[in-house]
Amino acid sequence: KKVVLAYSGGLDTSAIIPWLKETYDNCEIVAFCADVGQGEEELEGLHEKALASGASECHIVDLKEEFVADYIYPTIATGAIYEGTYLLGTSMARPIIAKAQVEVARKVGADAVCHGCTGKGNDQVRFEGCFAALAPDLKVIAPWREWEMRSREDLLDYLAERNIKTTASATKIYSRDANAWHISHEGGELEDPWNEPSKGVWTLTVAPEDAPNEPEYVSLAIKNGRITHVNDEALTPYAALMKLNDIAGKHGVGRIDITENRLVGMKSRGCYETPGGTVMFAGLRAIEELVLDKTSRTWREQIAGQMAHLVYDGRWFTPLCNSLIAASESLAELVNGDVVIKLYKGQATPVKKRSPNSLYSEDFATFGEDDVYDQKHAEGFIRLYSLASRIRALSTK
Ligand code: ARG
Ligand code: SIN
Repeated sequence: KKVVLAYSGGLDTSAIIPWLKETYDNCEIVAFCADVGQGEEELEGLHEKALASGASECHIVDLKEEFVADYIYPTIATGAIYEGTYLLGTSMARPIIAKAQVEVARKVGADAVCHGCTGKGNDQVRFEGCFAALAPDLKVIAPWREWEMRSREDLLDYLAERNIKTTASATKIYSRDANAWHISHEGGELEDPWNEPSKGVWTLTVAPEDAPNEPEYVSLAIKNGRITHVNDEALTPYAALMKLNDIAGKHGVGRIDITENRLVGMKSRGCYETPGGTVMFAGLRAIEELVLDKTSRTWREQIAGQMAHLVYDGRWFTPLCNSLIAASESLAELVNGDVVIKLYKGQATPVKKRSPNSLYSEDFATFGEDDVYDQKHAEGFIRLYSLASRIRALSTK
């Protein structure tokens, strides 16, 4: 018996290690941690911590570039945004983490995988949906749905009884999930939507009212729906995102506060920060305005709507996902150009844009003379375009 545990070093997954051993016949625990850009702090001393809690091995896998290139970019190229505002930061990370966890399970010859998600959330569905698609033979263990412990105190007592040291404290106000793209904050006073989030909620962005009084301009070069340069500097996908997080965070860009519909049926309230991602989105949408004709643009929005639910609902490893991405990538071939975005007091506003694929033409849009558009033709167009209305009105008189 060998279990690969998605391990973060936090209180929950620290307690899961001894619990698994006691509950599952003294099985061997392999700790696995995906580095998706959650930051040095969370990864520091993780290896030692895992072994001290009773794991036999700890695998930390660097997925930062792959996360941005193969999960974030294909998703944002579709324009997916959940329920109008959520840029899907946690949702997009789950499939890559689950996939890497399955790879570790194969490497060490494990027969089970385990995660620390609660039984009330989306994440359990996402992880297990991915496990089902990638490794249906592996047993899945979800301790929060099995054990009787309910609070942080319970977990601390459990560890203390076993002489396992932890730096975790009994009071931790917010449940947070961080990666290169975003950080989420849930719980604490946020559980009441009538409470404005306190200053202490936010960690990646300054409050817009405290942001500099001078705007800052950032330029993006975009090729096939990917940001290749930030302020003329060629950067890898992950490096570009980090740089934009830094610049945009200083201007208070990318905060949202949402009461969302979880897949499991309940509503929950979350505050999310996606500074760099908000700028990337703004840049991509600005180029699309230039290059997509009306029907292509409408199609892209349909893809976005489908993709937002697919990613949120944990259906990454499906034919539908491949199909949506293929459709979106064919449109993204047109998404090339440069954008200048103005950052000011929480806003990221594209103020300049150009593209070699632009359909916009000053010559054609002008109110002066041009030679593709004869205003006389509009009369016949409108006559036929509105013909059905005319016939209905005449026949129902
Ligand atoms: N509600 C968001 C989502 O479903 C964020 C979830 C955060 N997850 C966590 N384990 N703290 O994507
Ligand atoms: C959890 O319940 O584990 C976190 C929140 C979520 O998955 O929606």
